[in-house]
Amino acid sequence: PKTPARPSNVTAAWAALREEASGCTRCHLYRDATQTVFGEGPLDAALVIVGEQPGDQEDLAGRPFVGPAGQLLDHALEEARIDRASIYVTNAVKHFKHERRGKRRIHQTPDTPEINACRWWLDQELDLIRPRVLLAMGATAARAILGKAVTISRTRGAPIALENGIEAWVTVHPSFLLRVPDEARKAQERARFVEDLRGIGERVK
Ligand code: URA
Repeated sequence: PKTPARPSNVTAAWAALREEASGCTRCHLYRDATQTVFGEGPLDAALVIVGEQPGDQEDLAGRPFVGPAGQLLDHALEEARIDRASIYVTNAVKHFKHERRGKRRIHQTPDTPEINACRWWLDQELDLIRPRVLLAMGATAARAILGKAVTISRTRGAPIALENGIEAWVTVHPSFLLRVPDEARKAQERARFVEDLRGIGERVK
């Protein structure tokens, strides 16, 4: 495994990395975004959760998962008895990709070159934090972590051993749950998401 030596001062190394990422121009997404939204949470976290990219509210706040998807995630974590304060939360892509329609900014899914460009940051975050377990939420995060496209439904529910020794899990993205139109199905999907989180919580106890 290719894990580089962990710097003795992880906090300083992370702060420097975050500072460097704030000026990122590795792909074109920085041009239309307000700011880089870097990961946050304890640097000794056993669990890292990776989302897709900041949404509208995250782009403005400069913090991951503070909008509607973040609120759903918070409640689901609570139900699964995982303390959000104990986990490091980040995104595969750190600038908000969107198109403007009038005053509204509409989310656009990052493409493979954008995901690959942003792995520069994600890989370094993971090298510093070295979590035991990682949860990729949605196809973009799964692609960033696994380096290839996977189907969530076929990949969720079983751990995947990464080269760097991290145990990875894949589940749906909370934004997917927000979009399920049928209320009964939404409740079902949400319950399944909480079950996934509960199982992962067991792995970091
Ligand atoms: N969706 C994500 O994937 N990440 C965020 O930070 C917010 C919404």
